[in-house]
Amino acid sequence: MKKYPLAQPEIIQADIDAVTQVLKSHQLSRGPVINEFEKEFCKITQSNYASAVSSGTAGLIIALQALGVKENDEVITVSFTVPATVNSIVAIGATPIMIDIEDSTLGMCPGALKRTISTKTKAIIVVHAFGKAANMCELLSIAKYYNIPVIEDACEAIGNSYQQKPLGSMADIGVFAFYPNKQITTGEGGMLVTNNQKLHAKFEILRNHGRSMNGDLYDQVSFGWNFRMSDINAALGLSQLKRIKHVITKRQKIAQLYNTYLSEGKNITCPSFSAHESSSAWFVYVVRLAIHNRNTIIQNLNRLNIQCGRYFAPVHLQPYYKKKTNKNALHSTETIAKKCLALPFYTQMTENDIKFICINLIKYTQ
Ligand SMILES: Cc1ncc(COP(=O)(O)O)c(C=O)c1O
Repeated sequence: MKKYPLAQPEIIQADIDAVTQVLKSHQLSRGPVINEFEKEFCKITQSNYASAVSSGTAGLIIALQALGVKENDEVITVSFTVPATVNSIVAIGATPIMIDIEDSTLGMCPGALKRTISTKTKAIIVVHAFGKAANMCELLSIAKYYNIPVIEDACEAIGNSYQQKPLGSMADIGVFAFYPNKQITTGEGGMLVTNNQKLHAKFEILRNHGRSMNGDLYDQVSFGWNFRMSDINAALGLSQLKRIKHVITKRQKIAQLYNTYLSEGKNITCPSFSAHESSSAWFVYVVRLAIHNRNTIIQNLNRLNIQCGRYFAPVHLQPYYKKKTNKNALHSTETIAKKCLALPFYTQMTENDIKFICINLIKYTQ
């Protein structure tokens, strides 16, 4: 029986050739391909600086450290995300304060942000959930009023924009990720972007053991990590980035087919977009169910080899974070998360695949 995975990377011969070329060059790390990948990434995100790192999580950790966030500081973020967003705050000894989301954007609720900011707040991480733009106008204006730096967790948002500006390029720092379920992949990897030269200089040091070039030699000038990306990964990323427009067009067609074939489903709501988003690069296709037996629906679809995801499982409800106190009631997060179901989504899907998935989803949600 045919299998329908939740996600699948698209690897073509040009990707294999690009990686092979690096392998043959013997310059597997800190070589020229990293610089080229970063240069091209600046172009597509309309950013002045980009620093490739080993994962999105590494990018978030470095972003917080570059902003000077340290132990016992508070960082406001959302629970409607992957654990990595919140873990990055905990990793540097700061305290995550998870607040609620808005129903329309699935991003951080501006009202909740206003109510939560305190003198302890040292940074805000806004997440573009499923690549959908959070309410950047309002969130950025609140942050500006209180003079608090903002990181965009744009790990799912490459290729998406808000009021014609690329997501990830609107705040102090944008962080992207390239795990194989993303629009483009490097295997594992991430990217930090900024327009601030000082922050960029800090990223370069923090990702490389805290070292900085002094003439021909390195001096260690701060604490740091090995969060570098290898040229092998960068070659794959660069090759994929070259055809990102083509990949996005394919993803948009798949989403359109899902919208069409699911239109008959009376208990299924297809994804929608705010007026600030002209289109989407479609990281995932997540529907909302109006009925409460999601686990049974997932089991039924799994029996047909259709993989589905409970995406996102709120972070504050995870066993690890549940033990820690989160005093904020996250009503929207919990209500929305219970209804969400991610469907298989990858560029190799055929119209027949989508039809088959939709017919069965409608059947099990009648
Ligand atoms: C919203 C979000 N933030 C952070 C990350 C972390 O990225 P990585 O898995 O590359 O560390 C991801 C990746 O799945 C993500 O989707």
